[in-house]
Amino acid sequence: MTHSAPTPGAVAPVIELSGIRASHGEIEVLHGIDLTVPSGAVVALLGPNGAGKTTVMKVVSGLLPPASGTIRLAGRDVTGITATETARLGVCSIPEGRGVFANLTVRENLWVAAGHRVGLEELEEVAYTRFPRLGERRDQLAGSMSGGEQQMLALARALGTDPAVLLLDELSMGLALVVVRQVYDVIAALAAEGIAILLAEQFARIALPLADHAVLLAGGRVVHAGAPADVERELSTTYLGG
Ligand SMILES: Nc1ncnc2c1ncn2[C@@H]1O[C@H](COP(=O)(O)OP(=O)(O)OP(=O)(O)O)[C@@H](O)[C@H]1O
Ligand SMILES: [Mg+2]
Repeated sequence: MTHSAPTPGAVAPVIELSGIRASHGEIEVLHGIDLTVPSGAVVALLGPNGAGKTTVMKVVSGLLPPASGTIRLAGRDVTGITATETARLGVCSIPEGRGVFANLTVRENLWVAAGHRVGLEELEEVAYTRFPRLGERRDQLAGSMSGGEQQMLALARALGTDPAVLLLDELSMGLALVVVRQVYDVIAALAAEGIAILLAEQFARIALPLADHAVLLAGGRVVHAGAPADVERELSTTYLGG
C-alpha cells in the first residue's frame, strides 16, 4: 500500500493545524484551533453540539478554506488546497450520516469507491476479509442494512482509497454500544497500520477509551487537550457539570 513505507516527512505529525480560524458565511465559528494528529494515532475531537467538530473536519478535508492559520499534511503546508487535492494526498473522510449510497448494493458501493487507485476485486477482497458480514451481504441494497453494517461499508469504502488520514465524524451515531465497539476495533487496527485518525464524537465516554489523545472543543475553541484520562477528568468536572 502506498502509505505503509516510511517517508521523509514521517517524523512530522500527519495533520497539523495551527491558529485555524474559519467562518460559515459572515460568522466565525473556529477561533484559532491548534491540533495535531501523529501517524498511527487516534485523536478524539470532543465537544457539545455546535462546538465546531464538523467544521474542523471540513477545514482538514479542504471543503472549507480557513480565514487564517495553517494546515500541514505530513509536514507540507497545504493551506487553501481543494478537497480533491487533499483526497489525492490521502485524506479520506466519512461524514456525519456515513455517505453510503442507500439505493446501491454493497458491491456497487465498493465499485463506486474503487476509482482508479484500487481495483474492485482487490477492494472487495480487502473489504470482505475485514468485514465478513459485508461479504455475506454483497448483493443487498446498502439502505436496507443495519446502521452498524452501513458504517462498516462506509469504512470499507474509505479503505479503498488507501488513506493516510481518516476523518470520522460521529461514527457512533445511532449504533448500539456493542456495534460501536466492533467498529472501534477496526479503527484501532487501522491506526496500528499507521493511519492518522481524527475521530469527532459528541459522546466523549464512547470515544475516550479508543483515543491516544483527546481535544475538547467548546464554542469554536480548544478548551482542553491532553491524555484521554485528563480530558475525562476535565469533562466530569466542567462540561458535564459533574
Ligand atoms: N453550513 C453552515 N452555515 C452556517 N453555519 C454553520 C454551518 N455549518 C455549521 N454552522 C455553525 O457552526 C457552528 C459549529 O458547527 P459544527 O457543525 O462544526 O458543530 P459540531 O461540533 O460538529 O456539532 P454537532 O455535535 O451537532 O455535530 C455551529 O454554531 C453551527 O450552527
Ligand atoms: Mg458535527
